[in-house]
Amino acid sequence: MIVYSSDPAPLTCEQVEGFFVGWPNPPRPETLLRLLAHSARVVLALDEGRLVGFVTAISDGVLSAYIPLLEVLPAYQGRGIGTELTRRLLDDLSTLYMVDVMCDEAVVPFYERLGLRRATGVIRRTYARQSGE
Ligand SMILES: CC(C)(COP(=O)(O)OP(=O)(O)OC[C@H]1O[C@@H](n2cnc3c(N)ncnc32)[C@H](O)[C@@H]1OP(=O)(O)O)[C@@H](O)C(=O)NCCC(=O)NCCS
Repeated sequence: MIVYSSDPAPLTCEQVEGFFVGWPNPPRPETLLRLLAHSARVVLALDEGRLVGFVTAISDGVLSAYIPLLEVLPAYQGRGIGTELTRRLLDDLSTLYMVDVMCDEAVVPFYERLGLRRATGVIRRTYARQSGE
């Protein structure tokens, strides 16, 4: 059974393996634990203690939040977990004026179904820093 939580503190490295699929320079489990701990809000999906999906938000806590990371382990995709993670996070952020996400074109319909709308943005990516080491 999938259980949802907003507290990453109990997690160990062994429980958070398998994420960042396809990233050329992926963060290690230790780094995932670190970024979860430092996010303003997280929602976690757990299966018997193992992390199988997560979404994070960073925020000023006044007007704005950004959702940098949403991922569900491949074996758990297509079961509504990503939708539930995002729905819960958006509920947590409902008092804020701006909630922004940058994503690939293919994922836009996923977010539109959750009430977000298409916009234009700009980004910078420094792949040498992708692992967060
Ligand atoms: C995007 C992601 C989190 C969705 O998680 P999930 O648990 O599989 O999502 P759900 O089961 O709630 O799917 C909800 C709907 O979105 C669609 N969807 C899910 N992932 C999609 C994707 N990558 N591209 C297009 N549509 C997608 C599904 O088809 C589903 O629609 P349906 O119910 O009509 O079939 C997951 O595919 C993932 O981890 N992808 C890799 C990382 C990523 O792209 N993250 C988004 C960063 S902005």
